[in-house]
Amino acid sequence: MKFWGRTQSGGGLDFDRLDPAFRGFIDAQLALYGFDRKAFCRPIAPADEMFFKAILPNYEHDTNIAAFKYVESTVRTFDAYDQVVRQVFGGFGRLESVLDFASGYGRLTRALLQKVPKERIWVSDIYAEAVAWQARTFGVHAFPSAAAPDLVQHARTHDVVWVGSMFSHLPADLFHAWLGKLWSFVGPRGVLAFSVHDETLLPERESIDPSGLSYFRFSESGSLDHDIYGMSYVTQGFVGEAISRLPGTPRHKRFFKGLYENQDLYVVAGPEADISALRVASTPMGGIERAAHLTNGDVEFSGWAIERTPGEQITGVRVHVDGAAVGVATPEGERPDVLQHFPRSANPATGWRFRLSHALAPAGAQLRLELDSTSGLKGQIFARMPDAAALTYSGWSRRALKDQATGLS
Ligand SMILES: C[S@@+](CC[C@H](N)C(=O)[O-])C[C@H]1O[C@@H](n2cnc3c(N)ncnc32)[C@H](O)[C@@H]1O
Repeated sequence: MKFWGRTQSGGGLDFDRLDPAFRGFIDAQLALYGFDRKAFCRPIAPADEMFFKAILPNYEHDTNIAAFKYVESTVRTFDAYDQVVRQVFGGFGRLESVLDFASGYGRLTRALLQKVPKERIWVSDIYAEAVAWQARTFGVHAFPSAAAPDLVQHARTHDVVWVGSMFSHLPADLFHAWLGKLWSFVGPRGVLAFSVHDETLLPERESIDPSGLSYFRFSESGSLDHDIYGMSYVTQGFVGEAISRLPGTPRHKRFFKGLYENQDLYVVAGPEADISALRVASTPMGGIERAAHLTNGDVEFSGWAIERTPGEQITGVRVHVDGAAVGVATPEGERPDVLQHFPRSANPATGWRFRLSHALAPAGAQLRLELDSTSGLKGQIFARMPDAAALTYSGWSRRALKDQATGLS
């Protein structure tokens, strides 16, 4: 299903031109977060590498799925951000200002704007045009970054300095240098939150460098020099030692798989920030793998789900058709085959199954499965009846699951 061309808006992506079923998934997803759809769904800029060079190719250039995944990844990032803000500051209303560093074209900004006035949001990226676009489009404050931290001028400090998926691309010397620089942007009551790839994600047959950081000269970026941006994998020891070099030897916490689908989130506390009780859970994940049409007209769905947060578990899979609750899925036991996509997962993956009568699930209806967890976070899986295979897989690194999906039978 490619709607390339049809969905482009001056070379970017216009959400309004997506397939209506996928627009429906996006609208429902945003409504669950109480987000204003119109404000969130401004067109994606043509030069947005996050969308056009990373997400879209990861979904075989299927614009509809990629657009949904862009929104899904944003709300999942928001889930992590929200937990930090609520627990450390007592809510978004208490924030004086925030900085999204390495913000690209503002995937996260779309969510932040729903909670924080634009006057309190700063963004920065090495792509000066990306942050200038954000300033024009969203009205946030923007300043350009540079290849070397010493070249960046920013006189303010912030409550939250968020750095999603930049340290996961840095060589060792820049890892230390940027950590020091970004720490200088954190106010006394603030936190620095950043994500990394841990060593479980190393490419096959590679082993972690004895220093604790392995760096590879490739990335999704079409233009950033591999001397400054590639792919890096780190041990917890490497990150802990890097943080211990910061002025004031701050406290920190690591949340395994706390950001995106596969990155670890580190939160470093300013001297007045209390993170002793901070817990950041990962949003539950899952997918539909099979929609079998039975001879009596019912459709039987099956799939998988996983709770990646240590100490938490999925408590149920609730089924909704066009927004109305219609039942729950039955657990089907553990799925070790799924687990291979979640190295060192804290919990097993589980299978589930449920049936819908034709009357309950007419063609074209929106199917939504809600994954409930003891963490309080909810994962969502969307599909359209009857071709539930539309969204059988969840995540960039889970592509193999799509290959296993058999679709209608
Ligand atoms: C994987 S993308 C993540 C973008 C964004 N945080 C998100 O989650 O959508 C990495 C970003 O880091 C930015 N970046 C790379 N080197 C940088 C630097 N030296 N200073 C600021 N941003 C940088 C890239 O331009 C890109 O936007």
